[in-house]
Amino acid sequence: MELVPLGSAEEIAVVVADIVERAVRQRPAAVLGLATGSTPLPAYQELIRRHRAGTGPSWDEVTTFNLDEYVGLPAGHEQSYLATIRRELTDALGLDPARVHGPDPDEAGLPTAGERYEAAITAAGGVDLQILGIGTNGHLAFNEQGSSLASPTRIKTLTVQTRQDNARFFGSAREVPQHVLTQGIGTILRARHLVLIATGVGKADAVAAAVEGPVSASCPASVLQLHPHATVLVDGAAVGRLRRLDYYAEVYAAKPHWQAH
Ligand code: PGA
Repeated sequence: MELVPLGSAEEIAVVVADIVERAVRQRPAAVLGLATGSTPLPAYQELIRRHRAGTGPSWDEVTTFNLDEYVGLPAGHEQSYLATIRRELTDALGLDPARVHGPDPDEAGLPTAGERYEAAITAAGGVDLQILGIGTNGHLAFNEQGSSLASPTRIKTLTVQTRQDNARFFGSAREVPQHVLTQGIGTILRARHLVLIATGVGKADAVAAAVEGPVSASCPASVLQLHPHATVLVDGAAVGRLRRLDYYAEVYAAKPHWQAH
């Protein structure tokens, strides 16, 4: 795992945009795994800025898979994660909506939705680069504490904490759906490169548990320790509880110019 301590969310956005663009330049038909939530937004805005400036790669052949989706929102609800990722990123990059995927929350198909999503990811050749956030409780996508570390895409019930954390997108925590479909931890671990972003003091405990704590279902994000290519980008506020911060900073300062993230 590479822990990259950076000063600000803006600096992280530039590094994440570099990583995403490199993946797309290396493989124009790249499969990207996308996170919603607030944390990746500056990186998405940076990608859009570069695209509009004409310096970005071609996005024509890129396919995307969202991490998760709410269950029970009316069709076309603006807070659905499919609507969100189109609004915040893929429409502006000119991606054909047919290439932008999320788990299907339609009630009639829920029992097979997870299986169908796994099959779609496999049919696309698997995820090359997965962007991730982390919950204040250490959740990864919507895999809450106690989730199986081998889980596939499936239905989960959100914790009260997560519904409170996401209340800002709705009128109140009560309006945040209780149920979601989420890529499982096993699904996420199959992506070829994981890039987790954490910003703000509210994430400091979760980052320390994920990076320096034991690998445990009590902190689902700790599974990044099992992945052969995981990059964790943290701002100055989110590093506060890391015991080995000096070492990570030393490693990053000494990073050879030939070594990419
Ligand atoms: P956030 O959500 O980016 O909105 O903080 C992250 C998460 O819950 O995984």
